[in-house]
Amino acid sequence: MSDMNTNPLDDPSADPFEVAARAAGDIARLTGVERHDIALTLGSGWGKAADLVGETTATIPATDVTGFSAPALAGHVGSIRSIVTPEGKRVLVIGARTHYYEGHGVRRVVHSVRTAAATGATTMVLTNGAGGIKETWTPGTPVLISDHINLTADSPLEGATFIDLTDLYSSRLRELARTVDPTLDEGVYCQFRGPHYETPAEVQMAKTIGGHIVGMSTALEAIAARQAGMEVLGFSLITNLAAGIQKTPLSHAEVIEAGQAAEPVISALLARVIGQL
Ligand code: HPA
Repeated sequence: MSDMNTNPLDDPSADPFEVAARAAGDIARLTGVERHDIALTLGSGWGKAADLVGETTATIPATDVTGFSAPALAGHVGSIRSIVTPEGKRVLVIGARTHYYEGHGVRRVVHSVRTAAATGATTMVLTNGAGGIKETWTPGTPVLISDHINLTADSPLEGATFIDLTDLYSSRLRELARTVDPTLDEGVYCQFRGPHYETPAEVQMAKTIGGHIVGMSTALEAIAARQAGMEVLGFSLITNLAAGIQKTPLSHAEVIEAGQAAEPVISALLARVIGQL
């Protein structure tokens, strides 16, 4: 258990995988579910999706689980749920994301992913709200993440840990998602540090180097998921066109609003995709 002031991950001599194993033990004990099959991280706009995935058998405050921090933002739900799908799969829903911009270090950012792997999950579904560079993506459009560009200049991997990231966002799972919605577009996600939104010049840079989506999460988590041997499926909800593509200023309120408007549609989509996994 972690209290308000201490987090075992803040001790540089701690082994983050051992902390994740302890967290998985907490989850097994608090949910009564020994192993999970799939893990799902809910980003802005995706909060209600869990309700449609199946029957929630346990909800626990993330702060009761070793290594998890209190949520930084209202609108980012700080709970962990265990859900059983109609097909009998156990889904661990992580409503408590630690963002890189919080400045607590990358170990804390990827702790939920490592914990999910330690609960037995072999599929990691990462969702986020993000800015779109393609002008055809109106706010409220869900898109598949096909690849990423990590602009944080950081990594969850420590030491000489060389991990292949080819097909990081599983083409098999993207194909499967398209069987649910053939109109799903996809794009390359650029993770910026944030928490400021990008400048129009930074968005142009992202476009020039091959990016289609800009955001402040997911890439570091995906790398950790791959290190843990999980198959990754990534979804962005386009909440706004990225700075400079959209001619009006960006606001957090707008991001939240677009998320809320899209929620019923994207929740149903996500639930159907998870049903196929
Ligand atoms: N940029 C970065 N993160 C975001 C955006 C954006 O335009 N919209 C929602 N999250």
